[in-house]
Amino acid sequence: MKREQLYSGKAKTIYATDNPDTLIAEFRNSLTAFNGEKKGEMEKKGYYNAQISKKVFEMLGGSGINTHFVSMLSNIEMLVKKVEIIKIEVIVRNIAAGSITKKYPMKEGTIFKSPVLVFDFKSDDYGDPMLNDDIAVALGVATREELAALRKLALRINELLVPYLDEKGILLPDFKLEFGRRDGEIILADEISCDTCRFWDKKTGQSMDKDVFRFDKGDISKAYEEVARRIVPEIFE
Ligand code: C5P
Repeated sequence: MKREQLYSGKAKTIYATDNPDTLIAEFRNSLTAFNGEKKGEMEKKGYYNAQISKKVFEMLGGSGINTHFVSMLSNIEMLVKKVEIIKIEVIVRNIAAGSITKKYPMKEGTIFKSPVLVFDFKSDDYGDPMLNDDIAVALGVATREELAALRKLALRINELLVPYLDEKGILLPDFKLEFGRRDGEIILADEISCDTCRFWDKKTGQSMDKDVFRFDKGDISKAYEEVARRIVPEIFE
């Protein structure tokens, strides 16, 4: 049963349950970008992102990735395993886009020969600065063994996601993952959705993700709905 609200993030609210080992993640319709500077709302955003995340977590779980997903309690409420969140945003890049093209001489659309993995410090106060292993260890956010495990897991998830999405006509330039600790294990947490991935239509190259909102690239509802139609067609039947 849903108990008290524990935390409200930018796109999800977390609630306690009767079971100390589980939490409820409620996906909301709020949209934010640029560390909360740009705000908006989109009807059904929580629904689409929850359903997309569920489907992707199930696919990854079926391929041996340990995820926090337990079950759906409603269209927008996901029962998840309680974990201690590691304060690192693990970003995997296959094609240059977004911040990397601003910080380095990399042209948008350049396909990387091998995935580019970046660790950012998950901190709104500090604007999510990039980490290296020494800084992460000095900050105490993870051990070297954990960093190595995060790298391995993120690359494996990328190997699974790229062909899964390609089959649905979606390119995956980059995405962000968050992990947590539980009983000595590292578990994939948070969400994998239009808010946390760049999805480009394979035919047209058009954005079908939060960039539509960030950079006013068109109709965000249509973009998220199209991704949901391709990943979770059953919810439209
Ligand atoms: O902004 P940037 O280009 O570094 O983002 C890389 C990827 O990570 C994008 O898919 C973006 O949606 C995701 N991301 C995220 N949350 C953040 C930062 C980036 O989901 N705080």
